[in-house]
Amino acid sequence: MNKIKCAVVGAGIFGEIHCDTYANYPDAQLVAICDLNEKKGKELAKKYNTSYIKDYKEIAKNKEIDAVSVVTPDFAHKNITIEMLLSGKNVLVEKPMATKVEEAEEMVNTAKKMGLILMTDFHNRFNPPIVSIKEKIEKGDLGEIIMMSTKLSDKISVPLKWFSWSGQSGPQWFLFPHIVDLVCWFTKDFPKSVYAKGIKKVLKNNGLDIYDVISATLDFGNSFSILETSWIIPDNWPSLVEFVVDLQTSKGKVHMDINNQGIMVCSELNNTLERPAYTVNSSVYNHTFGYASLPIKYFIDCLKEKKEPLIKLEDGLNNVKIICAIEKSIEEERIIKIEI
Ligand SMILES: NC(=O)c1ccc[n+]([C@@H]2O[C@H](COP(=O)([O-])OP(=O)(O)OC[C@H]3O[C@@H](n4cnc5c(N)ncnc54)[C@H](O)[C@@H]3O)[C@@H](O)[C@H]2O)c1
Repeated sequence: MNKIKCAVVGAGIFGEIHCDTYANYPDAQLVAICDLNEKKGKELAKKYNTSYIKDYKEIAKNKEIDAVSVVTPDFAHKNITIEMLLSGKNVLVEKPMATKVEEAEEMVNTAKKMGLILMTDFHNRFNPPIVSIKEKIEKGDLGEIIMMSTKLSDKISVPLKWFSWSGQSGPQWFLFPHIVDLVCWFTKDFPKSVYAKGIKKVLKNNGLDIYDVISATLDFGNSFSILETSWIIPDNWPSLVEFVVDLQTSKGKVHMDINNQGIMVCSELNNTLERPAYTVNSSVYNHTFGYASLPIKYFIDCLKEKKEPLIKLEDGLNNVKIICAIEKSIEEERIIKIEI
């Protein structure tokens, strides 16, 4: 069968992983890269020997393209996704699917109406230690989950230096989608209600009116999950990300420190101590390796094999509903019921 012809909209930090994966996956062909920023888009298009397109509407019009990755900022996924779906293209959208429930609903309804795949990129569904624990839960080795505690945080340079748009996002949109999906996937359920607390202080003093830290307790009825995030870890912390998952089950306990990959690198030259996370995304003799690229390859496999992705349409939508409820709980200082 022919290769799936793909385009990537958003040639930023994560867009490059999508481009690199399509360019190197035998069943895919990267045919266009789109970015409003001409310099970035053209540089990446040159690197992958493909064409650059400034306006995403031109990608939608191109009948040759089968599939599109939408890798624009968190709040800028809806219009592009809908335009692609209405033009008959399957879409892999970065997490979060959207930052408003109405937007995610419109995206899901459009995908259903068009009979196309719309998959949200929750890459922990492909993260080997997490998948191995999911398999143990499914086999019944651990009994039932009764409490989960997860933490996903970034160094402060992520909101302060990496993005011009972090003030329109926040750790609840940039980081929580991953662990909200994780606890729902593990429990095979969605929470009934949430109570959350957030603090704005350090980033606010730096001109960003967004939360520094958030803690949210999701009530699943027979179990609960505590989710924590910080976007203000000092830059001299040894790893970019802090990612911890702890499960108390009826017959066991699991503790995963996902970023501790057993590698520490210290350099006297620039006075650094690093804990690199090579398994997320790296290149091994020019072959893309890592769990960040696995869902992108899997999206191609679903198109080739005409199978429904294991990340369902509703998983992306419900994730947005839960995070909106978390925001509401912080703002209104009360427990919020979640209608799923
Ligand atoms: N799955 C993950 O673990 C993961 C990790 C990092 C980022 N992300 C997500 O990926 C998305 C992009 O993040 P990033 O880190 O690559 O950000 P980025 O700022 O590096 O890149 C975004 C790019 O989109 C471009 N853009 C914005 N609006 C556009 C439009 N209308 N048309 C074309 N291009 C447009 C910008 O010019 C920019 O180059 C975000 O939603 C983010 O949350 C996911």
